[in-house]
Amino acid sequence: MSSLASHFAGGRDYLAACTVGLPSRATVRAIRADLDAAASGRPDVAAATRAVEDARAAYARLVRSPVGEVAIASQTSVMVSLIAASVPDGAEVLCPEGDFASLVAPFARADRGIRLRTAPLADLADAVSTDTWLVAFSLVQSATGEVADAAGVAAAAVRAGARTLCDLTQAAGWLPVDATLFDATVCHAYKWLCCPRGVGFLTVRPDFARSLRPVQAGWYSGDDPWSSCYGTGGALAADARRFDVSPAWQAFVGAAPALKLFADADITASYAQATGLAARFRVGLGLAQPARPSAIVTWPDATGDALAQLAAHGITASGRAGRARVAFHVFNDDADVDRALRALGTAVPAAAVPAAAPVALSYSI
Ligand SMILES: Cc1ncc(COP(=O)(O)O)c(C=O)c1O
Repeated sequence: MSSLASHFAGGRDYLAACTVGLPSRATVRAIRADLDAAASGRPDVAAATRAVEDARAAYARLVRSPVGEVAIASQTSVMVSLIAASVPDGAEVLCPEGDFASLVAPFARADRGIRLRTAPLADLADAVSTDTWLVAFSLVQSATGEVADAAGVAAAAVRAGARTLCDLTQAAGWLPVDATLFDATVCHAYKWLCCPRGVGFLTVRPDFARSLRPVQAGWYSGDDPWSSCYGTGGALAADARRFDVSPAWQAFVGAAPALKLFADADITASYAQATGLAARFRVGLGLAQPARPSAIVTWPDATGDALAQLAAHGITASGRAGRARVAFHVFNDDADVDRALRALGTAVPAAAVPAAAPVALSYSI
């Protein structure tokens, strides 16, 4: 069992980190203390502001990005809209079929001739052409749990002169990621990073950042937010902070300890645990193992029967796009897998399921 498990009070029969993560004990303590301070007439804005920077720094470490390339945000679609605002009229954006709407819709709804093209995830690298301005894809698919061939896509984009935008929302926290391999990444941290909702991060490489217009600039886009509160807000920050939006304070108070927990953790161990549990579950259900190990398992469940069976046994799972979906995270163990299999009327694997091959910690292009 992961050393992270002891930081969570819950987790038994909770197979839905892909929907929403659980708050760690430290997150609960931090938010309670913040609420108590506010309720007693002493809201601590300075502490919340420190939490924002602690969260930014921990996230930067987690995704191996220089902290100056990380902007704070709140929702994926809003971060993606910032990128979409800089896609030239008529340019092509390539996305996987069926990727999450917050990643795709901002391009589709820009309403100024952006040509959105989709390809099956497995063919995404091959689909990149010299006509492609941007490839936007989730590293791990929400509906299926499939892990993208990020190295292949990034390499194809470099060859074609296209930019890359990778959504890490379903990946960061269990899959080792290196944000610097993409021109930009987005992540809403309320799932696998167990933050409150409303804590998001955008990473942008400096050369790509220079081509983005800070269309969401406000008082937080200056070097010192407290001196850029009025009028046009004054000079923009020189680094990615110029894309900051003002933080959801309380959410960041809860996020800072969660992100520190995950940034300090041995991600290789978390990866092995999550993908090992998922592999055991697939063996029990007789499902094929995916080419790239995933912590998320999905299977056809058009009637919703499987999901109902799990719920009837007190197991929290989810259903998306006609598929049942379970997710295994650091607070889960073999017993969770076996209870879910029994709930589905399936025998549990007799033997231990061999650990998945170690993941490449970075993708070389
Ligand atoms: C890949 C992916 N990105 C983003 C989100 C969340 O989007 P938003 O931040 O717009 O709520 C989800 C939620 O399921 C997701 O699966």
